[in-house]
Amino acid sequence: MRKLVLAFMLLTSPALAQVTAHSTNPLEGKADAIEAGRALFGKMNCAGCHAYDLTGGMGPDLTDGSWQYGAKPGEVYHTIAEGTPRGMPAWKDKMTVDEIWQVVAYIQSKKQ
Ligand code: HEC
Repeated sequence: MRKLVLAFMLLTSPALAQVTAHSTNPLEGKADAIEAGRALFGKMNCAGCHAYDLTGGMGPDLTDGSWQYGAKPGEVYHTIAEGTPRGMPAWKDKMTVDEIWQVVAYIQSKKQ
């Protein structure tokens, strides 16, 4: 019984559930999450490569609606967590699941 309850908790907890390309962002549109994401964008130095307003620099513009690795929230999550072979670092060991969703919420809030 205990094991069942634990398995149920793991499956229903948004923080621990597996994120797939089809996952929606549980924090999308939430003002406090967007603000936390904005802060993380500076703190983790995403801004150093993508600029504070996300319009890009050494890394690509994240507001122009063009996505190399997919535009869906789950895909953007995956790109940030895993990184890419051409210069985008992986963040899954440096940020929690919630923090990555906060940053995705910030990016979503800037979409044109
Ligand atoms: C060292 C520079 C650098 C840092 C720091 C960095 N990025 Fe990137 N990022 C890149 C580059 C370069 C690419 C393009 C990679 C490619 O073409 O494979 C990229 C790609 C991306 C993409 C995919 C864009 C697309 O078109 O699919 C997202 C989303 C992204 N970065 C978000 C972030 C976030 C969020 C952070 C901070 C947690 C961050 N990046 C930190 C350089 C960086």
